[in-house]
Amino acid sequence: MKVLFVCLGNICRSPAAEGALRKRADEAGLPLSVDSAGTGSWHVGEPPYRPMIEAAGRRGIRLNDLRARCLRASDFDAFDLIIAMDHDNLDEIERLRPAGNETPARLFLEYAPQAGESDVPDPYYTRDFERALDLIEMATDGLLQSLA
Ligand code: 4NP
Repeated sequence: MKVLFVCLGNICRSPAAEGALRKRADEAGLPLSVDSAGTGSWHVGEPPYRPMIEAAGRRGIRLNDLRARCLRASDFDAFDLIIAMDHDNLDEIERLRPAGNETPARLFLEYAPQAGESDVPDPYYTRDFERALDLIEMATDGLLQSLA
């Protein structure tokens, strides 16, 4: 099973989701392949945003070695499931989807209905890294249950 997380910059939310899911899957002994990408190209090649690296690190989620990249057409065939952090990301995913491709694309917070929200707020703008990580960890648990 190969899962791709998508956000706007690929330096805050989707790398955090990638790290969180990789950690939980490792702990559960689940053979998952996880990656992340952004719909924007401003930060390509950069590590995740420092405040997100630090906030995730305090939760035992290591992001240091990740590097930002853009969502590309070949991702649609390379992954089994594409997960968007918010509605804008999901719209962009559908806009880039190659003709004939049917890889499912979902909102991440569909896996955390108890959160009562449908978008992971972008902490690059809200500065609330803890809230973003709370939602990401909640949805990671729900996603793992749906995959198990
Ligand atoms: P992300 O946050 O989509 O969670 O990685 C962002 C980070 C940077 C920018 C936008 C969103 N930016 O425009 O630079």
